[in-house]
Amino acid sequence: MVNVYLTRPVIGDVFRSSKGPFVIRRPSILSAFIALLLLAAGLPGKGAERKVQVSEFGKTKEGTTVYRYVLTNAKGAEAVVISYGATLVSLKVPDRSGKTADVVLGYDTVDGYEQGTSYFGGTIGRYGNRIAGGQFTLDGKTFQLPKNDGPNCLHGGTRGFNKRIWKAIDRSNASAQILELSYTSEDGEEGFPGTLAARVTYSLPAETNELRIEYSASTDKDTVINLTNHSYFNLAGDMSREILDHQLVLHAREFTPVDSTLIPTGALRAVSGTPFDFTKATAIGARINQDDEQLKLGKGYDHNWVLARMDKGGLQPAAEVYEPTSGRILEVLTTELGIQFYSGNFLDGNAKGKGGQAYGHRTGFCLETQHFPDSPNHSNFPSTVLKPGQTYRSTTVLRFSTRK
Ligand code: GLA
Repeated sequence: MVNVYLTRPVIGDVFRSSKGPFVIRRPSILSAFIALLLLAAGLPGKGAERKVQVSEFGKTKEGTTVYRYVLTNAKGAEAVVISYGATLVSLKVPDRSGKTADVVLGYDTVDGYEQGTSYFGGTIGRYGNRIAGGQFTLDGKTFQLPKNDGPNCLHGGTRGFNKRIWKAIDRSNASAQILELSYTSEDGEEGFPGTLAARVTYSLPAETNELRIEYSASTDKDTVINLTNHSYFNLAGDMSREILDHQLVLHAREFTPVDSTLIPTGALRAVSGTPFDFTKATAIGARINQDDEQLKLGKGYDHNWVLARMDKGGLQPAAEVYEPTSGRILEVLTTELGIQFYSGNFLDGNAKGKGGQAYGHRTGFCLETQHFPDSPNHSNFPSTVLKPGQTYRSTTVLRFSTRK
């Protein structure tokens, strides 16, 4: 089933076909009966409500309509994505008593996302995290990107993928609601070489509370790429509370220490014996204020952990977070090699989010699956170069459950 959301057909709309015009009518009793039979047979029929629901979210300053897509399942989960930035604006999952709450930070309006500087829920590209001096050299040519974070380029520049309009297609099937979004970034956009055709797909299975995010991309010139999602989680679903009591596990034995502008020094440092050791479940706040040089540089946690992968490919567990009051658990699985754990250190209450809620210091945390920051300037880091003919692929799964 493929629905292209350019304009939405409604009952009464007239369409032209090779056999002349036809009108969208209310479903007849016969077609409803056939749909029921197909549903019972487990086939995606005309009447099977396996479709992503679409409505208007708002308009950009230039007047472009932004659509809102709602993915739901039978287990009480609901994910809302908008075409602006392919942004995850809300994610509702049950707590241990079955009560559902929104566990991500975001805004109610397009204007919020246009003005926002925190990247709430956005799809980050062309290059997630920082590139030193906003500069890198590829095939002997130096490229200059915007310096939008002190001396560095952060999250793709001044207008990254999180501030672009994406096109959506419903790819739902009988077992999942699936929304595919695509965006073509022009050659030279934000200083990056090559026309990059990017795609991000959100899938919510009918029977499991996990949101699967799959990225793919291709280019017509050598370029660099590092796509991620920048959701801020608060598993209590109460954004007036800090996330310091959440217990975190990171499947990583090393992290990449940074300099004073949060650029990796190039070293991989063992976490053992440091406040960066989350190999066993530890409250985020347990050591965050320790007298540690790296914690001071990050104003808390804002670092890339090197994931200890059992093999080189496939989806592997990266992180697990447990929130004691609600019992909610978030597991993050990824095909990526790194994860940026950011403890919301720059949130300061200035951003007024959903329902007018002011998001204070450390009321949300991010787990951005990624290749390492500033890889184009570190030959010892895994490469982020994408060449014509190659397909970039990356998958991250956000799996939710609860504990008593
Ligand atoms: C990333 C960065 C942080 C911060 C946030 C957005 O996690 O590493 O330093 O810029 O994005 O505020």
